[in-house]
Amino acid sequence: MLMLSIYKAYSMTLIRSPEKDSVMSSTATLDYQALDYTAEVAAATAPLYAKVARVIPEIEWPFHAPYVDAINRLKKERNAIVLAHNYQTPEIFHCVADVVGDSLALAREAVTVDADVIVLAGVHFMAETAKLLNPEKTVIIPDESAGCSLAESITGADVRLLRQKYPGVPIVTYVNTTAEVKAECDVCVTSGNALKIVEALDTDKIIFLPDEYLARYVASQTDVEVIAWKGHCEVHERFTGAEIEDYRKNFEDVVVIAHPECPPDVLDAVDFVGSTAGMIDYVETKQPKRVLMVTECSMSDNVAVECPDVEFVRPCNLCPHMKQITLPKILESLQTLEPRVEIDPAVAERARRAVERMLELS
Ligand code: 13P
Ligand code: SF4
Repeated sequence: MLMLSIYKAYSMTLIRSPEKDSVMSSTATLDYQALDYTAEVAAATAPLYAKVARVIPEIEWPFHAPYVDAINRLKKERNAIVLAHNYQTPEIFHCVADVVGDSLALAREAVTVDADVIVLAGVHFMAETAKLLNPEKTVIIPDESAGCSLAESITGADVRLLRQKYPGVPIVTYVNTTAEVKAECDVCVTSGNALKIVEALDTDKIIFLPDEYLARYVASQTDVEVIAWKGHCEVHERFTGAEIEDYRKNFEDVVVIAHPECPPDVLDAVDFVGSTAGMIDYVETKQPKRVLMVTECSMSDNVAVECPDVEFVRPCNLCPHMKQITLPKILESLQTLEPRVEIDPAVAERARRAVERMLELS
């Protein structure tokens, strides 16, 4: 048996008091001073490895398994739940997440979740959305630096200026924004419901922020006039229409599907456009022989686990923010219950309205 002592950094002894409210303290009964790939860990995690064996090499599993086992035990002790975005790596997505999905699914799930602690394995705006919908719960993001180029492209002050410039025009914000920005907007949308919500507003003009390409995609599908902000996703903006044509030449019969954060020349060149959940659903239901998912590249690994008969052509654009979230950081955050997401109550109240309006309309 390969023995790896890989977790010596956590040298504190964790003891949990029996009272229920001790979940709010940074204590727990499990001892994580040394996480070894023991026979017990190997046996406990074998069914999970069997699931991900197609995408995680056997040689890597002894590094992941002790964390997977420790996280899954500590989650129960903390009455915690891990919500993971579709871009998380397979050892997180398939082995420690309780709920996986796109931003819309994670927001919806955050409303019904029955747990004291929510760990958001995703980026900061997703954790903020979970906190907005669960102000009483402890919401943790394992690495606070997991941001998003779209969320960083606009501030609340920018939105107030837009309101002055376009009085009376409803402001629609993509969920990829800070709570401070959502607080200034009328309604929130995700890539999975943007078109439906824009049409449900029953207006002839909207401001859509911050993603210019999603705004242009929505505009191409509706008669509503769309005024767009010029934010971009640093991952999706790198794809080009010419690159898609090259893939089509090199991989005969490949079905190409893309996220609407891609530039218009990419979206014009593909067979289907959808949110991450929409893209997964497309592959799972249509089972194309060969597919190219034009999006963050961990998603192909996650879908490949469920679709063994589909060949995935993988352009690899990683989201550096999503990749800040790792198994060791998830374990540490469960141990310490930090970093917690906190939102100024006055901002939260206004931002929550925009998110709740989205949930009502979608
Ligand atoms: P989805 O809501 O489609 O999962 O997209 C979130 C995101 O950040 C894509 O880059
Ligand atoms: Fe933000 Fe793009 Fe990363 Fe999604 S993939 S979290 S939009 S930077």
